[in-house]
Amino acid sequence: MNLLISFFFATIVNIQGADWCYQSQVTCGGNCTGPDGWATVAGTCDGRAQSPINIVTRRTLPDGRLTPFTFTGYQEAFHGFITNNGHTVQVDLPATAKVQGGDLAVPYKAVQLHLHWGKDGGPGSEHTIDGERYPMELHIVNIKEEYNSLAEALKDTAGVGVLGFFYEESRSSNKKYDAIVNALNTIKHPSSNTTLSEVSLDMLIPSRSKMTSYFRYNGSLTTPACVESVVWTMFENTISLSRQQLAAFSQLQFADGKPMVGTYRPVQLLNGRQVYRSGSQVVLVSTLLLITSVISAIGLPLPN
Ligand SMILES: *[C@@H]1O[C@H](CO)[C@@H](O)[C@H](O)[C@H]1NC(C)=O
Ligand SMILES: *[C@@H]1O[C@H](CO)[C@@H](O)[C@H](O)[C@H]1NC(C)=O
Ligand SMILES: *[C@@H]1O[C@H](CO)[C@@H](O)[C@H](O)[C@H]1NC(C)=O
Ligand SMILES: [Zn+2]
Repeated sequence: MNLLISFFFATIVNIQGADWCYQSQVTCGGNCTGPDGWATVAGTCDGRAQSPINIVTRRTLPDGRLTPFTFTGYQEAFHGFITNNGHTVQVDLPATAKVQGGDLAVPYKAVQLHLHWGKDGGPGSEHTIDGERYPMELHIVNIKEEYNSLAEALKDTAGVGVLGFFYEESRSSNKKYDAIVNALNTIKHPSSNTTLSEVSLDMLIPSRSKMTSYFRYNGSLTTPACVESVVWTMFENTISLSRQQLAAFSQLQFADGKPMVGTYRPVQLLNGRQVYRSGSQVVLVSTLLLITSVISAIGLPLPN
């Protein structure tokens, strides 16, 4: 009976167009399945460890194992295939770019990067911090070194490691993003593509010293099939782009020709998951400072 009902329901959804899309597309009158219906496209989207989430910073726990990462190949320039895939802009990455450390079980190699954004530089990140939505979010998608494809990695509950970064609006433009921003104008339509010359991952992310503060939790892909195989790392320090650069992403188009805006999934329930944060070193240093000042306050001799 249940099976019959769900078969019937799935058929109706198919008649209405089972292609998944963002809420902004539903609001614009698109004939597609918005986030509320993603579970009919892929059952996992109704799972209990979904992404993105709202990170409530006072509920995060410091974890001393969340040490700084080691990046390999991030300084190397590559020719990046960049495409409008109908949902976002994606750049294929060389597998020689690797990330390790930060309590990742093994090194992870890069597969692709893509972004999530709002409308004309307005709010558009997927994760939110204490309820704040940033204008854009970068996802560098990595898989465990031993796997040959994203599909293979998704079968492992920690097979995928996404490095996420928030953007913030700045007065001046970020020259290191010129290659990507300039390419947007040639990939307005889905399936169109071009090749970026001379970009490196280091050009696109904050400096190493600004990547020691981050959040960690277990979650999922933020688009169907919403597979729960992702170890998430969300960095606290932001990447700066001018309003004009942020707004440039809104010139891309969805398959129906409407502006590609609001490309983010609503935040999902935590369902008991714990979010951890790096930086217990900072806590340790401040504890030592406190002890030092207490000792000097009560007039004990300090060890040299
Ligand atoms: C929605 O799209 C499906 C196929 O993609 C089509 O069969 C259906 O007629 C469309 N519905 C409307 C209301 O346009
Ligand atoms: C890239 O664009 C060309 C046309 O410019 C097209 O023939 C090709 O299929 C596209 N490749 C991909 C992978 O989308
Ligand atoms: C993620 O899940 C694994 C396996 O269940 C667990 O060992 C690990 O502690 C979890 N990590 C976080 C950040 O919750
Ligand atoms: Zn993403």
